Amino acid sequence: MNKWKALPMRIETIRKITLAGPFDAIAVLLIAMSIVLTSPFFHYHEPYRRLLIITFSGIGAWWIFNERLMFLLREKFLLKSKYLIKSSELVIAEHDKTAQQNALLFGYTADEGKPVYISYDFLMRHVWILGQSGVGKTVLGTNLMFQQIVKGGGLLFIDGKMNGDDLQTMYQICKWAGREQDLLVINPGKPELSNSYNPILYGDADEVASRLLSLIPSSEDSPGADFYRQSTKQAITTLIAALQETGLAYNFMDLSILLLNGKALLYVESLLVRDKPDSPITNQYRLFLDRYKTVSNKGVTTIDVDRLKDILGGMAGRLYDFGTGTFGEVLNTYTPDVNLFEAIRANKVIYVMLPTMGKNEQAQNFGKMVIGDLRTALSWVQALPEAQRPNPPFMVFADEAGSYVSQSWPRMFEQARSARIWLMPATQTQANFEAISKELEQMIIGNTWTKVFFKIGTPESAETAANIIGMERKASLTIAENTGRSESGQEIDSSPIKQAGDSAGITISQREEEVYRVHPDQLASLDMGQCIVSFGGDKLYNIRVPMLTLTPEFREQCGKAQLNYFDHQARKGLDLFKNINRWLSDVIKNDKVDEQG
Ligand SMILES: Nc1ncnc2c1ncn2[C@@H]1O[C@H](COP(=O)(O)OP(=O)(O)OP(=O)(O)O)[C@@H](O)[C@H]1O
Ligand SMILES: [Mg+2]
Repeated sequence: MNKWKALPMRIETIRKITLAGPFDAIAVLLIAMSIVLTSPFFHYHEPYRRLLIITFSGIGAWWIFNERLMFLLREKFLLKSKYLIKSSELVIAEHDKTAQQNALLFGYTADEGKPVYISYDFLMRHVWILGQSGVGKTVLGTNLMFQQIVKGGGLLFIDGKMNGDDLQTMYQICKWAGREQDLLVINPGKPELSNSYNPILYGDADEVASRLLSLIPSSEDSPGADFYRQSTKQAITTLIAALQETGLAYNFMDLSILLLNGKALLYVESLLVRDKPDSPITNQYRLFLDRYKTVSNKGVTTIDVDRLKDILGGMAGRLYDFGTGTFGEVLNTYTPDVNLFEAIRANKVIYVMLPTMGKNEQAQNFGKMVIGDLRTALSWVQALPEAQRPNPPFMVFADEAGSYVSQSWPRMFEQARSARIWLMPATQTQANFEAISKELEQMIIGNTWTKVFFKIGTPESAETAANIIGMERKASLTIAENTGRSESGQEIDSSPIKQAGDSAGITISQREEEVYRVHPDQLASLDMGQCIVSFGGDKLYNIRVPMLTLTPEFREQCGKAQLNYFDHQARKGLDLFKNINRWLSDVIKNDKVDEQG
């Protein structure tokens, strides 16, 4: 077989150069005709003869050169790519500037360097970015956000892995586009660089309760855990409904006091009885509290908080984490700067920085809560008349989504499209979704029109991705070299003459087989910044993503990130923390008096 290996070109290349097919035949015919025309026989048709020779040979030679030889150069020199994964026909043509205005550029094809644009119509069918750490997911996301900002669109960027410069970069991009006044920052790791935000203020009681419930891990699948979850959900829904019925705003601190303090619970009851005595919600709340009430001999009503803790204890601790520390500084507000619904309508650029360093679980829980809040905002946008929905469509880039994905996502994907909101989660492995449930993974795959695969780290993810990209029928050539020896003669033969001979030959056979359009091994060895875009299930692009960089001079010119602050109309809140002394038990107060005395 060595002689085949020694060939200067691969069989694949030779096949591509081979002239076959009607266009090649026409090209060769044209060249042949121009050669015939050089014969002196035609010399008296002089000016036409030359013209025809030039035209025929020109067209023929151009075809053969461009189609049969140039690809060698193209594949060799344009944007280097280890693999020759051929890109499909462009959906938006290279020179179609009008269509490009309603689209975002993802990158340039690795073979021909053509720009791959995806229109908003298809972006609204969502995008999924998959790739191992450090291969270009955030670079692509940043690039798309940049274009979105320049086009005047709004976006929500949930950053699951920020570094110190990211806020600066977002600010500078906004400034470059003249939109720094549109930037809103939610940064619970650094309250001094954050707008205020209260993710449990908006939405009906059910929505807020499920947002809060997403804080409790759903890993336990036992019926007991399910019962516990149900009871917690009922309790929280009743509580939130009661709070909303009072008309007072509330925050995490209020909730965490309420969940563990009988007096505070009774205070809410007294507000409801005073202001909304006939409301069914008042009655529901009273019925709920009744289960935990005990009345002393002297007729004093108290709440058995220990029993309440059985169903609300896990939640109270988590809420307390959000109501205190740096989180509390950002989230304990009754008049938040960021109201997602309003922000989406006003095409704002919202940057959520999850402080994953050091406070990982809390940061992830916070991510879940933002997504929960987004779901509510999204359903409100969906209810608006068509003309009032965001234009260009609002972008949600959920980077490192694996750490805050939840069961509620698929529904959101379905709703978002009609709200003119497009979602773009980026994850490191497909297992991020599968960990929640197999259906979730399938729903995400089924609900994302555009899938972007960067270099993939785990074999399972690479295989899933290769399967999503799909298979194709391909003719494969098998070349077999065979040698043999044959002898012939009659068994019972007294003659000394027998026939014997060696034979050698090469068999080339061709057969069709189902092969991966992009093999898992190819996905596992893509370069940094290179990705395979699967569009609509049938189109495929092997692209290079450009990386946005801001020059040091421009950065210098922009200066430090400036936040936008807002004046708000005051809103009356529950203010449980302000009146903390009212909820402290008498025992503690007496102790204090004793100590002082
Ligand atoms: N298109 C590109 N062109 C040039 N360099 C790139 C490109 N994409 C990524 N890089 C380089 O790789 C680095 C990491 O890229 P990026 O932050 O986008 O990775 P990631 O996939 O988001 O990783 P992680 O999952 O860890 O967040 C970049 O800082 C940059 O140096
Ligand atoms: Mg990243």
